[in-house]
Amino acid sequence: MAREVRHTATSPRIIDEDDIDAEKGDIAICLCGLSAAYPFCDGSHQATHDEESGRVYRYEDGERREIEELVFADE
Ligand code: FES
Repeated sequence: MAREVRHTATSPRIIDEDDIDAEKGDIAICLCGLSAAYPFCDGSHQATHDEESGRVYRYEDGERREIEELVFADE
């Protein structure tokens, strides 16, 4: 499985002590690209658990859609 992700940030997020989750005592960095609290994990990755191998998905406004074909402008 794969997913298309758009990133709009143009600078890094600096992690400090205030970012530590008071209950869990850790910092969870989002690796799926879907978090609304990016770069921190907000649990949105749970939407990816049933993605199928070999498929490409796009998530928009909380909705998952499968991409049938990617076409690049320069091809
Ligand atoms: S890893 Fe992306 S929301 Fe959790």
